[in-house]
Amino acid sequence: MGIQITPSILNADLSRLADEVARIPSADWVHVDVMDNHFVPNLTLGLPVVEALSKHASQPLDAHLMIEDADRWAPAYAEAGCGSVTFHAEAAKAPVRLAREIRAQGARASMALKPATPIEPYEALLAELDMVLIMTVEPGFGGQKFLDLCLPKLRTARELVRKHGLETWLQVDGGVSLETIERCAEAGADVFVAGSAVYSAEDPDAMVQALKATAEA
Ligand code: DX5
Ligand code: ZN
Repeated sequence: MGIQITPSILNADLSRLADEVARIPSADWVHVDVMDNHFVPNLTLGLPVVEALSKHASQPLDAHLMIEDADRWAPAYAEAGCGSVTFHAEAAKAPVRLAREIRAQGARASMALKPATPIEPYEALLAELDMVLIMTVEPGFGGQKFLDLCLPKLRTARELVRKHGLETWLQVDGGVSLETIERCAEAGADVFVAGSAVYSAEDPDAMVQALKATAEA
């Protein structure tokens, strides 16, 4: 599949979501951060807004659910039209069942790991997942500093995917910029979330293209 860029709209102008998404035609996906003020200390948007946006975005939505009750809510995001749904390993009570439910709704199933959550206990689960999200900041806010300490886990994830002959995509999220994206690509990521780097740029779409070119180099 190659390198893919999925800008996060968290730092976009949330009062004009559809317009903000239209500014990034080069993006492969649109990353939507759903926060419930329980799993993370922040509250963003939920199912009705995601459903509305999915009708107005030309790219598929990549929903990142930072919510406690993932088992209950994640399949509904697939049903609402998201092309990919990511739940957190720390929040899911039955991740295998959940991944299967998401896939049954026709979306890609993905699982996220916070910086302190190891990947090894989830090795057997990889075949159930279309993507693993390795967080490179503590989830909750855009604009935080990239955590290099997450890179060894990304390397391990890449080794495990290779070992099992899988096609699982590896996504990084948090502090991804022109300065840090090469390190992520080198460690094995192929899907890159970038929030503030894209939406604080004067020309967000040019930044999407620059990020892709840098990751591919
Ligand atoms: C953080 C979110 C990220 C965030 C990324 O909890 O999951 O998607 O929007 O923003 P930046 O790229 O600014 O770190
Ligand atoms: Zn995110």
